Amino acid sequence: MVAGRVPHAEEVLPLPALSSVPRHVAIIMDGNGRWATARGLSRVEGHRAGALAIRTVAERLSQHGVPVLTLFAFSTENWGRPRAEVRAILGLASDFIDTRLAELDEADVRLAHIGDIGRLPRALRAKVRHAVERTAANTGLVLNVAFSYGGRADIVDAVRRLVDDGVRAEDITEEAIAERIATAHLPEPDLLIRTGGERRISNFLVWQAAYAEYYFTPTLWPDFDARAVDAALLEYGRRRRRFGLVPEGACAPDGLTASAGA
Ligand code: FPP
Repeated sequence: MVAGRVPHAEEVLPLPALSSVPRHVAIIMDGNGRWATARGLSRVEGHRAGALAIRTVAERLSQHGVPVLTLFAFSTENWGRPRAEVRAILGLASDFIDTRLAELDEADVRLAHIGDIGRLPRALRAKVRHAVERTAANTGLVLNVAFSYGGRADIVDAVRRLVDDGVRAEDITEEAIAERIATAHLPEPDLLIRTGGERRISNFLVWQAAYAEYYFTPTLWPDFDARAVDAALLEYGRRRRRFGLVPEGACAPDGLTASAGA
């Protein structure tokens, strides 16, 4: 991904052909704590390893031609974790910008942020804004970081914007909300991956992921590598997406073309 650099081992891994490439992959990066505990390390070391995994995954998705990646790095609920852990994750986010911004910019990555930026410490807020501004004109992978993000809060904010915009009740439509949701400028996620074995979306892109394909894997986030990305994308290619319609070629009851199925 970065020109003129010695490739990582992952980069020489042959790229499997995909039958379809998602326009937007969203990932719940879970399992850092368990990864660390299994190695006798602190949870913070797990988050540090998790931050390192981001590069491999972003590069692999980019190689596959995925244009947008949203990472759930810190939820509104995560503010309730022990203070030392919260401080450490904030520090890792700050280090990530300090150490990766130039490289990401060079690789044409556009950084974006969703979530309550006002809750971040002032210095981190400034770094996030700077990173977003510096990479705003880039045309490669959009790396959208959900930090201090909650899906329900996102919907509440969209509704507040509707009110601020003076939209009348009868004019409130799904489109009107979608235009005001945090990811309005991005395609909806086609594929939502959760690592770490749990099978829930934990207040991540609640509105946006209504029709996403879900991929749950027991692999802990720091172990989620290029091969794991390939496996998720190959599985996505095998899914038949219906968007509430009857499957292609199926005989619809009473001549209907759409069913209530998902
Ligand atoms: C979930 O694992 C992970 C988090 C809550 C934090 C994720 C943070 C990073 C990957 C690094 C910082 C972010 C950036 C943008 C560089 P968990 O702690 O819930 O793991 P467990 O379920 O095993 O306890």
